Amino acid sequence: MRQHLAVTIIGAGRVGSVLGRVLAEEGVRVLGVLSRTRRSARTAARFIGARVASDRLADLPPKTSLVFIATPHDAIADVARELASLPGLDARRLAVCHASGMHTAAVLEPLRAAGATVFSFHPLQTFPRDFHPREILPTARGIVYGVDGDRRGVAAARRLARALRGRVVLVPPGQRELYHAACVVASNHLTTVLAVVESMAACCGIPEGVARRAFSPILQASLANARRTSPAAALSGPIARGGIATVAAHLEAVRREIPGLLPYYVAVSAETVRLALRKGSITGAQAAALQELLMTFQPSPTQNTRTP
Ligand SMILES: NC(=O)c1ccc[n+]([C@@H]2O[C@H](COP(=O)([O-])OP(=O)(O)OC[C@H]3O[C@@H](n4cnc5c(N)ncnc54)[C@H](OP(=O)(O)O)[C@@H]3O)[C@@H](O)[C@H]2O)c1
Repeated sequence: MRQHLAVTIIGAGRVGSVLGRVLAEEGVRVLGVLSRTRRSARTAARFIGARVASDRLADLPPKTSLVFIATPHDAIADVARELASLPGLDARRLAVCHASGMHTAAVLEPLRAAGATVFSFHPLQTFPRDFHPREILPTARGIVYGVDGDRRGVAAARRLARALRGRVVLVPPGQRELYHAACVVASNHLTTVLAVVESMAACCGIPEGVARRAFSPILQASLANARRTSPAAALSGPIARGGIATVAAHLEAVRREIPGLLPYYVAVSAETVRLALRKGSITGAQAAALQELLMTFQPSPTQNTRTP
């Protein structure tokens, strides 16, 4: 399969550069990189080892068998339309996918109508802009891709995922937004949690860099324990023990020292109470008492909830 694939990447950003390079390292021919600007296309093509670099879709290498669209999601529909109308393009021997978490395969409809095999292929990974593609390359191996498409599309997605040493998870098109919201929780919210920890530690006089190192083991262990068992099994702490006095003292401290974080603290604590109940470590009555306590710390809409 790898030898038969001949890929062109459209969109020379983080995702296009990194996945293009993974494909090339796995022995797939990456023929070209097309982007909005020639400069980005060249940089990415050099990084990947592709011959063609252009700012024109018309320069799509004729031997391309798979087009991977890695543009921002609001450009995908235009790119699909433009590709479908390229003179001389035989779409029937082409597979086309895109990397957006928000769009389904439907955004590629002009290409499907022209006979191409289409599918969505969202890498369930973070590719932050502040990192050079080389730095994040290892994190793009062995990942999962959120996919939808018809039978042919899904089969092509599985082949592409195998070539990238990854796997596919099928996402019902009607749940695409919720699936993407879950990705946001897993990545962006987790990153936000780290920033919250640093802010709280700073209030205790612990400098940022020290806090990052100090909280690292507890963060890593929480993640590893939840992965090995389940979030419910991994849950520890005062809410899981029904320690209402401790929870009240924490809420008081947050309100006093860093009031901007109170809405966040209350909302996540309420979810933690539900998790403790599922875990079976607190009774329904304890859960109700904890939720009632949390309600008393819920800021009213008129209260100032700006960050500290
Ligand atoms: N970043 C993530 O963590 C992540 C994770 C999963 C999925 N995704 C998805 O992957 C896709 C790409 O994300 P990214 O983070 O790699 O974006 P990015 O770094 O902003 O790169 C997008 C690239 O697309 C090019 N581009 C923009 N409009 C274009 C057009 N009309 N035709 C051709 N090229 C165009 C830009 O070109 P120039 O540089 O030439 O201007 C840019 O290099 C998005 O759909 C995103 O939702 C991103």
